[in-house]
Amino acid sequence: MTKHFKTAITTSLCLLAAHPFSSALTFTVPSQVGTGDYFYAPLDPAPIGISFEFFAFPSYFTNVTATQQCLANWKALTGVWPPIRIGGTTQDRAQYDSNTSAYVVYSVADAKDAPSVLTFGPKFMTLAGMYEGSVVIGLNRGKNEIENTIAAAKVAVSEVKNLLAIELGNEPEYWVKDGQPITSGVDWTPATDAASQNNWNIQVGSAVGKTNIIQAGNWNEAPPKWGAAQLITTENATVESYVRHYAHHNYPGGSIQSLMSHSAIARNIHTFDTDIAAARAIGKQYVFGETNSVSGGGAAGVSPTFGAGLWTMDYALRATYSNMSRTYFHHGTVGNCQYCFWGRYSMGAPYYGAYAAVALMAGASHLTALDSGSTNYAAYATFDSRGLPLRVILYNSDYFAGSGTRTTQSFTLTGLTSSTVRAKRLTAASATSRVDQGSPPSFGGQQFDNGSCAMSGTETFETKPVSGGQATFSVKATEALLVYLQ
Ligand SMILES: *[C@@H]1O[C@H](CO)[C@@H](O)[C@H](O)[C@H]1NC(C)=O
Ligand SMILES: *[C@@H]1O[C@H](CO)[C@@H](O)[C@H](O)[C@H]1NC(C)=O
Ligand SMILES: *[C@@H]1O[C@H](CO)[C@@H](O)[C@H](O)[C@H]1NC(C)=O
Ligand SMILES: *[C@@H]1O[C@H](CO)[C@@H](O)[C@H](O)[C@H]1NC(C)=O
Ligand SMILES: *[C@@H]1O[C@H](CO)[C@@H](O)[C@H](O)[C@H]1NC(C)=O
Repeated sequence: MTKHFKTAITTSLCLLAAHPFSSALTFTVPSQVGTGDYFYAPLDPAPIGISFEFFAFPSYFTNVTATQQCLANWKALTGVWPPIRIGGTTQDRAQYDSNTSAYVVYSVADAKDAPSVLTFGPKFMTLAGMYEGSVVIGLNRGKNEIENTIAAAKVAVSEVKNLLAIELGNEPEYWVKDGQPITSGVDWTPATDAASQNNWNIQVGSAVGKTNIIQAGNWNEAPPKWGAAQLITTENATVESYVRHYAHHNYPGGSIQSLMSHSAIARNIHTFDTDIAAARAIGKQYVFGETNSVSGGGAAGVSPTFGAGLWTMDYALRATYSNMSRTYFHHGTVGNCQYCFWGRYSMGAPYYGAYAAVALMAGASHLTALDSGSTNYAAYATFDSRGLPLRVILYNSDYFAGSGTRTTQSFTLTGLTSSTVRAKRLTAASATSRVDQGSPPSFGGQQFDNGSCAMSGTETFETKPVSGGQATFSVKATEALLVYLQ
């Protein structure tokens, strides 16, 4: 990235030694999309989606009350149902059984386990077809049973009316370790996996009679070794015609503090710059097909916290800013999922962060970052279809764990055109706050009820006067503020 940012970062002296404000930050809101020295990302109608672990998908949609409402809350903001992806490790353990009337058939020793083998029937696809948003379905490549996968793909095409794409295999770089049959006797490398993906893309795509249908890639190990840029160099025009877009998985991990750090988030997202550019160069989208805070269902001390919620918000926005078209946050085993946004009995703090990011982008056509990504402080602006600034979100990623003084950062926005602006605050007691431990966050004074995901509380806006096109906002450490410009 060679562009620099016109953002003025002014340092004002703190005259009062005990003043809890640090130096002021000033961001100019561009008056029109495309102006100034900024990158503007075009927005999908719903850039934030949910990934459901393959075997758990029917449970989420038939036996977890919050699912419908949590998705509907976002539709209420954007006008479209959030995109979903159904897949994960268990997609490569699953076999299609046209004879079963069940959604999925498996047995586990403990309800907290994921099955090591399972079958699924046509009803699985019928259920996916009832969803009103776009659906990506992950099918099996690891077992090397292409006829079975083609049979499943045909049912997916006929039953899932909003089918966006089909994945052929999840995280293939781990298949040697997993003992997946397709790697047997093969030196399984990025090159042999690419040859396998390309061959399957053509065979499955032609069997279902559809081009533009495959979500390719789907690795978790960081690029460039496993990545879209290297895959694309192996594809001819026939293969490319079957690929709709490219996907990567990502679980940054770390402590709450390192996870939620804005500069760390920006650095992490830059890992994908080359791959995104390679996909865009051939006119294809690039998505985070499966992601969340910490791999393996999440870390108990990190993933359910408000700090991870702020990571969710900033990470989804930074990915979108980098032209990642959609980000699918993974949801695993019901009842054993630290990073899940919701479960049967309790909400997760990350849902609040995702909700604020959805609220920033709702109905917008473009997004830009007003900051360079090198500090703890972030500002993103969205623009409407006329190109006018719509909203700005301000994020203070200074870490506050609940003890000592909670500092405040002031953000000044210039270039405002109205006489007042309204704002909603995303806050919680501290970065370690957890809903299930009695400390739910709030957004604009509202909360999401455990078990139902219904919004409760009174919607509360703060109002700020604008003077000379400027307004100054206070954002506490570990907090964000969504400013409505229209
Ligand atoms: C729904 O979930 C409950 C709680 O885990 C479980 O006991 C029940 O069997 C599930 N029902 C179905 C239809 O999956
Ligand atoms: C499904 O049932 C048909 C007819 O009974 C049988 O021929 C076929 O082998 C069965 N398939 C599977 C996968 O069990
Ligand atoms: C394109 O590549 C595939 C393998 O990935 C190969 O089977 C096919 O013949 C190639 N098509 C052309 C037109 O070269
Ligand atoms: C994202 O895509 C838009 C055009 O679609 C482009 O103008 C912009 O520079 C891209 N952003 C980055 C970070 O490359
Ligand atoms: C959810 O459950 C927690 C823990 O029992 C409780 O403290 C909280 O108030 C409940 N409601 C909401 C909206 O989070």
